[in-house]
Amino acid sequence: MASVSVDEAMRRAIELAARGLGTTSPNPVVGCVLLDADGEVVGEGFHAYAGGPHAEIVALAQAGPRAEGGTAVVTLEPCDHTGRTGPCSTALVQAGVSRVVIAVPDPNPVASGGAATLRAAGVQVDLGVRGDEAEAGNVAWLTSMRRGWPYVIWKYAATVDGRSAAADGTSMWITSEAARIDVHALRGTVDAVVAGVGTVLADDPRLTARNLRDGSLAIRQPLRVVVDSSGRTPLDARVRDGAARTWIATAAEVGAGPDGRVDLAALLAALHQRGVRAVLLEGGPRLAGAFLAAGLVDKIVGYVAPRLLGAGPTALVDAGVTTIAEAIDLEFVDVTQVGPDLRITALPRKREG
Ligand SMILES: NC(=O)c1ccc[n+]([C@@H]2O[C@H](COP(=O)([O-])OP(=O)(O)OC[C@H]3O[C@@H](n4cnc5c(N)ncnc54)[C@H](OP(=O)(O)O)[C@@H]3O)[C@@H](O)[C@H]2O)c1
Repeated sequence: MASVSVDEAMRRAIELAARGLGTTSPNPVVGCVLLDADGEVVGEGFHAYAGGPHAEIVALAQAGPRAEGGTAVVTLEPCDHTGRTGPCSTALVQAGVSRVVIAVPDPNPVASGGAATLRAAGVQVDLGVRGDEAEAGNVAWLTSMRRGWPYVIWKYAATVDGRSAAADGTSMWITSEAARIDVHALRGTVDAVVAGVGTVLADDPRLTARNLRDGSLAIRQPLRVVVDSSGRTPLDARVRDGAARTWIATAAEVGAGPDGRVDLAALLAALHQRGVRAVLLEGGPRLAGAFLAAGLVDKIVGYVAPRLLGAGPTALVDAGVTTIAEAIDLEFVDVTQVGPDLRITALPRKREG
């Protein structure tokens, strides 16, 4: 087999890492490519699920003795601690790897230190190769580990004029089946789906990740969270159907903000404690407005249908903006057609001061 460069190997490792998206939480996604002393690929691996072998261990097992004197190319700093599995830093040293190339350092204080252990054992360690790309592939986990609360994606569906329902309240369906299938795939990549009690009372959603064609449930279900200050979620609400875990987050349990409603920052901190790294905020408009007003949204995914309603509720209510200078400015990072609809992905711009 032809030899490959470290840069090419990292590109491949990043591709491998992405295969774990949605199944590794609360762990990160990680990919690893092992090159022998001649630069030939002798092992590949990715972290597939929490508790399962780490990417480096999978790649080392494939490589066997050919790892000796070789280079491990890995998207995240190898762990240095014994959790459900042993430290990857030690496994790399024991396999006789002479160089380790890392895209992103591990921000997790419990697991970091792998680079130092490797260097102390005489292994050459290089950091930062394709760092931005690897960071983007792991953005939810890295962000949540650095700051201690989950990465929040607000998803909404609306017409071109921003309406989420008609004047008489009917809203099924604003967007196409293709867009709704896309949403279910998105639910499959997060750890929790969050909705306000207003949406539960109005629509009685299931909030599960499903195959829309046959209704079957995805193997891994996000935690369903209803933000419900005073516990108004009906006992027979579909979110209580047992199909997935559900948390009715009340102000009494989470803590209340100045308006007496659930304190959203405390809610996110509590979710982080439960191992939630990525959250899909599915509205409705009032809860989304409160999250945006508090600066707690990291990414916006809007499904925009080629339709107009002219009247009816809007997808967002009161985000704390009263004058144009206070508008929440966004940067569009992707626009993709999904069936007849557009999926617009945007990032809120950081505010000055
Ligand atoms: N187009 C879309 O993408 C989309 C998505 C979802 C829903 N919807 C539509 O939205 C409508 C419901 O709208 P909605 O605004 O009433 O529902 P909502 O945003 O789901 O729920 C709002 C409720 O959340 C509770 N809440 C708890 N803590 C809060 C906090 N810190 N800040 C704000 N709210 C907090 C409040 O009730 P308590 O004070 O009792 O806790 C509040 O009334 C439905 O008709 C549904 O179809 C549209």
